[in-house]
Amino acid sequence: MIASHIVILGGTSGIGLATAELAIANQARVTVIGRDPAKLDAAIGALGPRAQGEAVDATDHDAITALFARIAPFDHLVIAASGGAGAGSFPAIDPEGLRRGFEAKFWVQWHAARAALPHLATDGSITFITAASSRLANPGTSGLAAINGAIERMVPTLARELAPLRVNAVSPGVIETGWWADKPAAMFDTQAGKAPLGRAGQPAEVASAIHFLISNRFVTGVVLDVDGGLHLT
Ligand SMILES: NC(=O)c1ccc[n+]([C@@H]2O[C@H](COP(=O)([O-])OP(=O)(O)OC[C@H]3O[C@@H](n4cnc5c(N)ncnc54)[C@H](OP(=O)(O)O)[C@@H]3O)[C@@H](O)[C@H]2O)c1
Repeated sequence: MIASHIVILGGTSGIGLATAELAIANQARVTVIGRDPAKLDAAIGALGPRAQGEAVDATDHDAITALFARIAPFDHLVIAASGGAGAGSFPAIDPEGLRRGFEAKFWVQWHAARAALPHLATDGSITFITAASSRLANPGTSGLAAINGAIERMVPTLARELAPLRVNAVSPGVIETGWWADKPAAMFDTQAGKAPLGRAGQPAEVASAIHFLISNRFVTGVVLDVDGGLHLT
């Protein structure tokens, strides 16, 4: 990766933090954003002097717009912020819960991408982080499929509309991060075991796919599955 400034929304833990670590190892400067100030301080401390960051809740779209203007210019935007809400069987799911899921992921990613546009390098990139649930057809995940599928379906259109800016997504399967902390351990093991590779992925394995999408200047409009083959099941 050539020297650049990479903004990682949701860069204080898990996949986003691993992406920041890899970017810094490749001489980039990073801005990481998360809500929790203590997590942010720990991340910046671990990442070292090439990292800066701010604690902002990305559901506050005005705050993200103002933050991007403060830290501009930048070359690449990676959007790893998550919600986790939106799972449940179709008859039983609370529509408000699903709405919160859209607010926390779809609208966060949509607004962040739009707010970044005036500040991104023309030959830079946006990388969305979606999820394998978009296409798995797993009963009980139609809400997650809708949230992540909506983001994935924007990618090819935005890649044409915003060129020469490049627009891609990484679609992870089961990855060992704090995202699973409030879910039953058995669910993590069962889901991870369904992938042909038979295990959960590591944040660094997703980060290396994001690094590829950022640094390869001839790749755009791609949704890259990083899921141990889970999408084949
Ligand atoms: N782990 C998996 O198995 C898996 C599978 C498929 C897709 N994904 C997707 O991968 C992405 C990264 O998740 P992860 O597994 O790395 O989880 P994670 O470790 O919980 O990381 C999420 C990051 O986003 C930040 N964040 C969350 N909500 C935010 C908000 N409203 N505003 C600002 N920052 C926010 C978190 O910091 P704060 O908590 O301090 O805000 C943290 O830095 C998510 O989009 C998730 O849906 C994960």
